Amino acid sequence: MKKEKLILLTVMFSLTLGVSQLFAQQLNSLRGSTPLDEANKSPAVQKVQNDREPIERDYVQQPPLIPHKIQGYKINKKFNKCLTCHSWSNYKDSGATKISQTHFSDRENHVLANIAPRRYFCTQCHVPQVTSNPLVENTFQPIKTIKHQ
Ligand code: HEC
Ligand code: HEC
Repeated sequence: MKKEKLILLTVMFSLTLGVSQLFAQQLNSLRGSTPLDEANKSPAVQKVQNDREPIERDYVQQPPLIPHKIQGYKINKKFNKCLTCHSWSNYKDSGATKISQTHFSDRENHVLANIAPRRYFCTQCHVPQVTSNPLVENTFQPIKTIKHQ
């Protein structure tokens, strides 16, 4: 390798290292300030809230939060526990909200006879809630039209 090329590579490498170190110092993630090469203390396991009434939504396209426990609810290729209560054929018996029509459309807006694969893994979008302090301050206000008075 030519000498100039080697010098250039060394300079580029040091620059990249410097920049990444700068970012590493500024980032304050869930790990807190524990350096990346050290194991952080695992956060305390939070208690999932008891079953309750549906939780108010904050914006129109928000996937509603899950107002009940889901521990042990399996979702795999053959079986989806959520659909045993939330599908159109079961919701009346279980008293659950039925999945909305949007859950039957694929990304080209073709309406399918069954739940669209992109909506099959419910917990990608719907999450249960724990009682804990917010990690960061949030001053978000829902728009008035969907706010329950
Ligand atoms: C045993 C039946 C049952 C199962 C299984 C179940 N749910 Fe529910 N779910 C309910 C009922 C009942 C409600 C409505 C509570 C109410 O209206 O008071 C509900 C409410 C919800 C809501 C809130 C809807 C809204 O309009 O705010 C979401 C979201 C939800 N469930 C998602 C899920 C997901 C995701 C799973 C699987 C991980 C799941 N549920 C499994 C019975 C069930
Ligand atoms: C890709 C994200 C996504 C996935 C995956 C998904 N949902 Fe939803 N869900 C949403 C959004 C966004 C809404 C609110 C807007 C709407 O109805 O489409 C919603 C609404 C709902 C509602 C409320 C319906 C109503 O009439 O108010 C229920 C119940 C629900 N989903 C259950 C489920 C269940 C059960 C699954 C899995 C079988 C699932 N969802 C998968 C995003 C998702």
